[in-house]
Amino acid sequence: MAGGKRSLLRRILGLEKQQPDTAENPQAMDLWDRRRGKKYREFWTSVSQRYDDAVITTYGGPDDGMQEKSEWIGDYIIDSLKLKPDFKVLEIGCGIGRMGLFIAPRVAQYHGADISPNMLAHARQRMADQKNCFFHELHSSDLRDFADSFFDAVFAEAVLIHMARDDSFHYMKETFRVLKPGGRAYFQFYNILNPEGFNYFLRVLELNDHTGEHLVSRPRFHTAQEIRQYVERIGFQIDEELSRLDDVEQKNERHHNYVLNAVVTKPVA
Ligand SMILES: C[S@@+](CC[C@H](N)C(=O)[O-])C[C@H]1O[C@@H](n2cnc3c(N)ncnc32)[C@H](O)[C@@H]1O
Repeated sequence: MAGGKRSLLRRILGLEKQQPDTAENPQAMDLWDRRRGKKYREFWTSVSQRYDDAVITTYGGPDDGMQEKSEWIGDYIIDSLKLKPDFKVLEIGCGIGRMGLFIAPRVAQYHGADISPNMLAHARQRMADQKNCFFHELHSSDLRDFADSFFDAVFAEAVLIHMARDDSFHYMKETFRVLKPGGRAYFQFYNILNPEGFNYFLRVLELNDHTGEHLVSRPRFHTAQEIRQYVERIGFQIDEELSRLDDVEQKNERHHNYVLNAVVTKPVA
């Protein structure tokens, strides 16, 4: 069934997912253009000049109740990280502060880091009422500005999917370094073994002209096994109860079925 018909049927049946489908939104797909830049920073700065475009690239669709519809993801992250009021928390790729707005009121310090100064400007504005927020502009995919063992919790929602495997692995390694022993982290990925995930992979392939010059921030797809390997080799312990690392069969009422989540802990030596 064509994407439009399927989403109409979903809506009629009251099954509309709360996260819009980027691939079903022509405006969103238009923004995914290779000419916007060859580096992460160029691309994400270009798509976030206008606030409305920044919303579409971070959320997948227009701000039609975005915060309310995203609250359950915020709750999942809060539960996964077992947040406490005295925590210092880092979000890698904070975008416009969609998740930050849920996290900041619950902790002592919220640090939003992003490669795009425009995204950070939107986040600063949206979170202006929260006085415990710090924003950091990153220049490459690492956390060199942060000291070892500084944070109680670190998370990356809808970010590591938009970079090369080695860069997302590097961010996970860096996360281990900046976390206190006993600290917790949350990483989100897409599952290529899930049939819907594979369909999305095929749609992303349409953005490729096969010259070898790829759209730098195109969504990437992984397997649960691969993510397990990454986090375990880094030294994390997987929280099986809170992670969503099933091989193929995933059912998610509100999000895409192909989302993988690794919830992990840095062991106390
Ligand atoms: C799809 S948005 C998600 C934003 C936010 N986490 C959310 O859930 O709303 C991806 C964000 O990651 C940022 N980003 C992309 N590549 C990055 C990189 N290599 N390092 C840091 N941030 C990056 C983008 O600028 C953008 O704000």
